[in-house]
Amino acid sequence: MEFSKIIEGGKEYYVLSPIINNTIPRKSDEVFFNPHQKINRDISVLVLKVFAKLNNNDNIVICEPFGGIGVRTCRYALEVPSSTIHYNDVNPKAFRIAQHNFSHLSEPYRDKISTHNGEFTDFLNSLYLDHPIMDFMDIDPYGSPIPFVHRSLKFVTTQGLLAFTATDLASLSGLYPRAMYAKYGIGMFEDRIGNVHELAARSLITGIQSIGLTQNQSLLPVFTLYYRHFIRTFMIRIRGVDKVLDRTGFLCKCDKCNTMFQTSLTTKGIECSFCESNRIRRVGPLYLGKLHNESYLTPLNDDPNIKDKNSSKNLSKIINLIHEENKLDIPWSYDLPHVAKKISRPIPPMDFIIEKLTELGYKCHKTHYSGTSLKTNANFSDLCEILKLSSD
Ligand SMILES: C[S@@+](CC[C@H](N)C(=O)[O-])C[C@H]1O[C@@H](n2cnc3c(N)ncnc32)[C@H](O)[C@@H]1O
Repeated sequence: MEFSKIIEGGKEYYVLSPIINNTIPRKSDEVFFNPHQKINRDISVLVLKVFAKLNNNDNIVICEPFGGIGVRTCRYALEVPSSTIHYNDVNPKAFRIAQHNFSHLSEPYRDKISTHNGEFTDFLNSLYLDHPIMDFMDIDPYGSPIPFVHRSLKFVTTQGLLAFTATDLASLSGLYPRAMYAKYGIGMFEDRIGNVHELAARSLITGIQSIGLTQNQSLLPVFTLYYRHFIRTFMIRIRGVDKVLDRTGFLCKCDKCNTMFQTSLTTKGIECSFCESNRIRRVGPLYLGKLHNESYLTPLNDDPNIKDKNSSKNLSKIINLIHEENKLDIPWSYDLPHVAKKISRPIPPMDFIIEKLTELGYKCHKTHYSGTSLKTNANFSDLCEILKLSSD
């Protein structure tokens, strides 16, 4: 095996050469290291530290069933104080490299890690648990995490944290409506609605939640990141279904005036909130509550590590944007190129649009997931008028 060395979180790791840099990893990439996942690992460490603090937990038990070459496990051992980590990976080659990386940790950190080389279900069975003990389950497979949700829930404590990574963005965003329905239970009725990035994040969360509901559990997101080729969501497990059902409904777009709005799960005779037309396109059922919990966002940005040289450069900027998005509590955004094309006008600067919408009394903000999407409760007609203003 040929090794390269990389530095992450201020420490050197062994990875297999060549390092995959600019492609989206697939199952067939036998053992790889994806440098673009650094931000995923950075945010995971930060969220875990906030979770530990908010819960006064002084020994976080972490389960990493898809541990790869062990970089994430090492980072949890080194950067999350008082943690115990159960590492596993099915691939013997990844397992061997992980062992190598663990052996380079100093003893107190190495001793925090137990290792296993097996398939997800076999690994969890090998733990011989008769009650949940994991404070944190990190589900980071390839593609969709859905096949692993049901089993993961059995191992995490009530009020415990679960994190899921998904890379099957085409299904999640409704590009393939049949796959979206098959994997996540979301119906795309007729046409694409609004910006697809947020739709994809909500589809993932809804798909995970629907499995929790069958076990009388609500899984509530505390932080959700859409970045390049993946979505990462962190969710707290609580008893009962109401917290999810109360926030689940349909995302709607009026076919007559193009305004977006939401309805609850049980609304009958849906009408446009602006022009009262009943020609409505829908997508759902979808979780329409907040994607982030305020009690996580402020401490995340206050962590001294967020601005240090080892942290992902733009993480602080992303969290600031997420903070503003979250305050609006509007579960959709408009895709500006799409709006501009509809009225055959160029897209004015985002700040100009925001200034004008704010003058009209609307809520609005940029989003972290796309430079050309705008989150606003403005009706489509007023949004178009502002686009026309700038080119008149
Ligand atoms: C995306 S990588 C994990 C990367 C790692 N979490 C990190 O951040 O460095 C996915 C890993 O899951 C492993 N894997 C895939 N299916 C698995 C299964 N059913 N059981 C256990 N491991 C599996 C693969 O061998 C691969 O190493």
